[in-house]
Amino acid sequence: LTHQPLRNMASSSSPSSPIALATLAVLLAAVCLLHAGGGAAAEELCVDYYDDTCPGAYKIVQRVLVQAQRSDPRIFASLMRLHFHDCFVQGCDASLLLDTFDGMETEKDATPNKGSARGYNVVDAAKAALEAACPGVVSCADILAIAAEISVELSGGPGWGVLLGRLDGFTSNFQEAGNLPGPFDGLPLLKQKFVNLGLDNTDLVALSGAHTFGRVQCQFVTDRLYNFSGTNRPDPTLNPAYRAFLSQRCPRNGVGSSLNDFDPTTPDRFDKNYFTNLEVNRGFLQSDQELKSDPGAAGTTAPIVDRFAGSQDAFFKAFAQSMIKMGNLGPIRNPSQGEVRNRCAFVNPD
Ligand code: HEM
Ligand SMILES: *[C@@H]1O[C@H](CO)[C@@H](O)[C@H](O)[C@H]1NC(C)=O
Repeated sequence: LTHQPLRNMASSSSPSSPIALATLAVLLAAVCLLHAGGGAAAEELCVDYYDDTCPGAYKIVQRVLVQAQRSDPRIFASLMRLHFHDCFVQGCDASLLLDTFDGMETEKDATPNKGSARGYNVVDAAKAALEAACPGVVSCADILAIAAEISVELSGGPGWGVLLGRLDGFTSNFQEAGNLPGPFDGLPLLKQKFVNLGLDNTDLVALSGAHTFGRVQCQFVTDRLYNFSGTNRPDPTLNPAYRAFLSQRCPRNGVGSSLNDFDPTTPDRFDKNYFTNLEVNRGFLQSDQELKSDPGAAGTTAPIVDRFAGSQDAFFKAFAQSMIKMGNLGPIRNPSQGEVRNRCAFVNPD
């Protein structure tokens, strides 16, 4: 794991970027072994957390993901999203993965996840493979973080040194999951939801770039196509040709769960096309296009969109950095507050 940020640079387009990305990774990646003996630094996540206890962890997860992707081209995007939805609710504690128990409602059933979040079975398969190799060692929260990095990298995006050492929490938070960023949130609210977690406008724009791959249901665009903000008109910030294209796929009274590519230009590739799409009003969600087109985007998020549309290196570098920030949200380190679950959907029996 320690050396992982140094490979995979083939995906970058400019010759200067491998050095830039590797430097970034070194700067950001805390190394546990240096901190052995404890102190405040022992609270931090680090890249080499499993080097002694489960040295094959990264490779094991990678093998499971590659296998899953053969029959499910969408799986990388879905796994990326699970890590996001986990980290934004109570921090990266695998709270998303718990099934309901003792009457506790689970995040899985909250509006942003129900009938939408997917890939749980692949996380379970990775967990089973890890349990076979090193029982009781690798947390489900860390599996989500590793899976997100592998998913981005194998889709052509940047790699980064995944910081590890999270424990899995004991609870799921249905209420808080209902407050995840939503596709109809206005730009001020989106910004606020990120700021509340210590994430700035660059993080908001960079992380939204994950909508460069994966699928999205018609129900999230029908208002934009036919009745934007109750006007009975389409969203004026939607490219007319793209609107015609989407109207074919998502008729007014059609099936709301029908799937579309987030990025029709390169559906399964992690590249900067999300941003080049926004430049020509081809964002899928209202929350996507707002980053460029909302009046409040001028001077805030729009220039960042422009920068990433113009440079894949700039996007990749920012994305890797923001992923590390997101992965650092509220990790549980104290064994009195968390555990390494045996199975990701269940807290361990006493
Ligand atoms: C900024 C606010 C965001 C909003 C409002 C939002 C909303 C959505 C929605 C509505 C979908 C489609 C769900 C469906 O059709 O079932 C989706 C999919 C997706 N989101 Fe986001 N998202 C946001 C940010 C992010 C971030 C920060 C990431 C990751 C870093 C991310 C990664 C993804 C991915 C990869 C998919 C496709 C998943 C798949 O194909 O299974 N999103 N998002
Ligand atoms: C358009 O949206 C408004 C507000 O949500 C709603 O009251 C109205 O019934 C919708 N119009 C149609 C034709 O669906």
